[in-house]
Amino acid sequence: MGEGMIRVRVFRAADRLARALARDIARRLSATPRLVLGLPTGRTPIPFYQDLVRLYCAGLVDFSRAATFNLDEFVGLDADDPHSYRAFMRRHLFDHVNVPRRGIHFLDGAARDAARESARYERAIRRAGGIDVQILGLGVNGHIGFNEPGRALVARTHRTRLTPATRRANAALFGHRTSAVPHDALSMGMATILQARRIVLIATGASKARSVERMIRGPVTPRLPASFLQLHPNAEVWVDRAAARHMNS
Ligand code: GLP
Repeated sequence: MGEGMIRVRVFRAADRLARALARDIARRLSATPRLVLGLPTGRTPIPFYQDLVRLYCAGLVDFSRAATFNLDEFVGLDADDPHSYRAFMRRHLFDHVNVPRRGIHFLDGAARDAARESARYERAIRRAGGIDVQILGLGVNGHIGFNEPGRALVARTHRTRLTPATRRANAALFGHRTSAVPHDALSMGMATILQARRIVLIATGASKARSVERMIRGPVTPRLPASFLQLHPNAEVWVDRAAARHMNS
């Protein structure tokens, strides 16, 4: 009861999860070369990106007709800033595989008009035919993208204020200086995310266990944005044992 429609897969360890997800995406790409992927940043997807690169180097995956949309970006950083999520994605994936340049989409953190930039992104997603597979990470506080817990969520792509906890969680990207982490970000909204045809949220490590349990078993609430995945007809949560540890208690 109360588990919504979310399907849960528990893996013995984080590296197995990453490998299974890379293989899953490679299979989808060979069935649908024009696949549109929604992609996250953070530590959790790094092994998955490494495995995709490995499959690409072995000639087992081809991105030449694929498109990608990243979930979010910091405000105030331009495209070449090494701290940007765009730079992160280059480092971990795009510099090593053959996604065509024109197929790679990012929110522009340096855009002067956030509302306009957000509307442009929504249009670009629509024009690409919508997102086929949206991969998500999970904030320790239950955020997805940069949709932070609060009294209400914003449906569409928007500019948002980051919580102190989220700024601390992102400090590693900024030489471990929380003060260097921007205060604002642009993020896909909850409706943008829920419009993807399939969603796979990945969470590994004990620090995510509490939010994983609430996301799957708790009420649907803006206090835990990831709980909205319960409303999606085709959402999966892939976790390692550490992140699953509160689910059987
Ligand atoms: C950031 C990103 C999220 C990501 C989260 C978790 O805040 N905006 O999309 O899911 O970090 O990061 P990690 O995987 O490092 O725990």
